[in-house]
Amino acid sequence: MADDAGRSPQVAVAQAAPPRNDDQNRVTVQENEVEGEFAIRAVNLQKRFKDTVAVRDVSFSVPAGSIVALLGPNGAGKTTTVNMLCTLLRPDGGSATVNGHDVVRDAAAVRRSIMLTGQFAALDESLTGRENLVLFGRLLGLSKGAAKKRADELLDIFSLTDAANKRVGQYSGGMRRRIDIACGLVTSPKVVFLDEPTTGLDPRSRQEVWTLVDRLRDEGVTILLTTQYLEEADVLSDRIVVIDKGQVIAEGTADELKEATGAAYCEVVPVDHGDLGRLVEVLSDLIPGGVAHVADHTVAVPAPRGAETLLEVIRRTADAGIKLSDIAMRRPSLDEAFLALTDPDRDVR
Ligand SMILES: Nc1ncnc2c1ncn2[C@@H]1O[C@H](COP(=O)(O)OP(=O)(O)OP(=O)(O)O)[C@@H](O)[C@H]1O
Ligand SMILES: [Mg+2]
Repeated sequence: MADDAGRSPQVAVAQAAPPRNDDQNRVTVQENEVEGEFAIRAVNLQKRFKDTVAVRDVSFSVPAGSIVALLGPNGAGKTTTVNMLCTLLRPDGGSATVNGHDVVRDAAAVRRSIMLTGQFAALDESLTGRENLVLFGRLLGLSKGAAKKRADELLDIFSLTDAANKRVGQYSGGMRRRIDIACGLVTSPKVVFLDEPTTGLDPRSRQEVWTLVDRLRDEGVTILLTTQYLEEADVLSDRIVVIDKGQVIAEGTADELKEATGAAYCEVVPVDHGDLGRLVEVLSDLIPGGVAHVADHTVAVPAPRGAETLLEVIRRTADAGIKLSDIAMRRPSLDEAFLALTDPDRDVR
């Protein structure tokens, strides 16, 4: 089933590979890498489709137990990046490890340790939610009893117990997405890839998926999600990797991205609008060129030094006896930051 945007949401789930007896040393090194630092590492990944460079150069790391959002506009290369990490696509260049396994050299090991769900084709529409979960469990080698137990746990976690015996073909979009993700969690994966988990969902269903991601976070699951929604990246992730035209163009927390892309302002509003002129005067040397931006009886003072500038403004206005009705720091919103970063006129070469 396609979502509103006409695409099938993709959800890929990877789990830690079980230790292998035939190559104990290698497994030890890999486990150290996973436990020590990163559950996902991408270094200079590249992928081209004929004339299209889908991924030009993407590097980032996801610390174990954290949530990273790949944020970017349509065609940025998010899905291609995720698919390389899941070994669905072979990179043309660069390297990556998931749970310590190299996605090219150890593709088989990665594949053995990765479970893919979410393309909806994987779910049997004629089966109920519970039957699908049990089927997944059985396919993954769980005993009948264990598969049923896990199915009931997941139905509970995903608030699908009431719909457990309904055929998946009759599920709403949000329920569908949840059962889809649930099927990927049958064997408690350590790493989960969620490619646009909420695209096409209504606000309530989106909230449900967010709650679910929060739960996974609480369980210590590492999550790489892709999204076009800034709000989603802001709310869900610990760090955001902004991708545009196949390249990482910025990386950091939502706050860091806001700071990196736009200057902060201190907005000052006098109680008495008649004081505006005097206010500009006492602050003039803080304003480049001395030309104040005044709108709605508010004077905007660039605040490159953040709170320090704010304090300076308060001190000066107090000294001048100008009463203020409001003073606030204003930083660019994440939307503004994103638009600035992904400006089509921006030269990325
Ligand atoms: N199989 C393919 N064959 C040819 N071109 C492809 C293929 N897959 C992706 N592309 C192209 O590679 C670029 C990156 O696509 P990708 O799907 O990775 O972007 P995305 O960031 O996931 O976008 P969206 O937000 O729309 O899902 C796009 O220009 C896309 O048209
Ligand atoms: Mg995509």
